[in-house]
Amino acid sequence: MVTAASLAYRMLYGGVLSRLPEATAVRIGQALLRTVPVDRLPLFTVKDPHLETTLGGVRLPNPVILAAMYYDPTILARAMGLGFGAVTTKSITRQPRPGHPQPNLVRVHTDAGPGLVNCNGFQNPGLDAFLTSLGAVRRRVPLIISVAGESEEDYADLVRAVGPHADLVELNVSSPNTTLVYTWSTRPQQLRDALEQARRAAPVPVIVKLSPDFPEQNEKAIIPAAIEAGIQVVNYGNARRIEEPRLSQGAGGLSGPEIFPDTLDNVRRTRARFGAAVDIVGTGGVDSSDKALALLDAGATAVGYFTGFITQGPLLARRILDRLLERSAG
Ligand SMILES: Cc1cc2nc3c(=O)[nH]c(=O)nc-3n(C[C@H](O)[C@H](O)[C@H](O)COP(=O)(O)O)c2cc1C
Repeated sequence: MVTAASLAYRMLYGGVLSRLPEATAVRIGQALLRTVPVDRLPLFTVKDPHLETTLGGVRLPNPVILAAMYYDPTILARAMGLGFGAVTTKSITRQPRPGHPQPNLVRVHTDAGPGLVNCNGFQNPGLDAFLTSLGAVRRRVPLIISVAGESEEDYADLVRAVGPHADLVELNVSSPNTTLVYTWSTRPQQLRDALEQARRAAPVPVIVKLSPDFPEQNEKAIIPAAIEAGIQVVNYGNARRIEEPRLSQGAGGLSGPEIFPDTLDNVRRTRARFGAAVDIVGTGGVDSSDKALALLDAGATAVGYFTGFITQGPLLARRILDRLLERSAG
């Protein structure tokens, strides 16, 4: 059943969605997610104590996480019934942001498989409207609220505001599409202060989401600063910045299988260097159960993905969970 439904999605994606202009495909995809109650099908969720894990001390029913992208409460609620062990929100900013103009998302076809390049620019309703909308989201699994700040104080203020509504808070200091956020990695001292202030303001465990473009800074400065600040989880990581002339900004963040080898290296190195001092979410390029298992074997506490949700469909989480269970039984 899972295999047949996965195949049906791949036909829908390959035959229809991937042939439409990107903006139209996104509109249709999100409208389907909002209106079709797929999460009511008993296909997605597997509950088994062997799958449980803890992230920053928070219990997750399984280690598969939907990465940051959605803020719509209906979609977030739906995603919570699609097998994920936690769902992450789009990065929320203090003020509403319209995002960058179209085109802000394009497909890429790499040797490794289908990916995306986006310059979304944090399209989101802003802190107050987002928090109001969250009331409608029934928590079936833990909610990770991602925040993006443009100043040191911003992070602390955002974390203080979203903390009571979240199971964990993720600090996005790595999105390649907003100069102020992307360049945090080049201002490690200021970032250290921002992490410390945010951690102190947080009523729940904090995740810091890193850029795959700054491995040296991450290892020498940012992860040590996060650990010193009492942050227990790193998410490695965000999309990789590349030039992309089809986008309105001329550049964007590459996601999907092309970035997977770096994700695997980053997770492996981080685990080797920092041992048990941090939990690691391995994100970037997971679009198969093999890749998810490879990250967990390399030391990830959990795996996250977004592009695989689009290209492989909503059953990818279930396929990963089935493989994990097979392994724990064998
Ligand atoms: C359209 C789009 C929007 C995204 N928005 C955010 C965001 O708001 N905050 C964030 O931390 N990451 C954001 N990401 C990055 C993803 O969460 C993820 O880290 C990245 O795409 C790499 O994982 P993947 O290869 O599984 O997609 C976005 C990615 C895409 C494609």
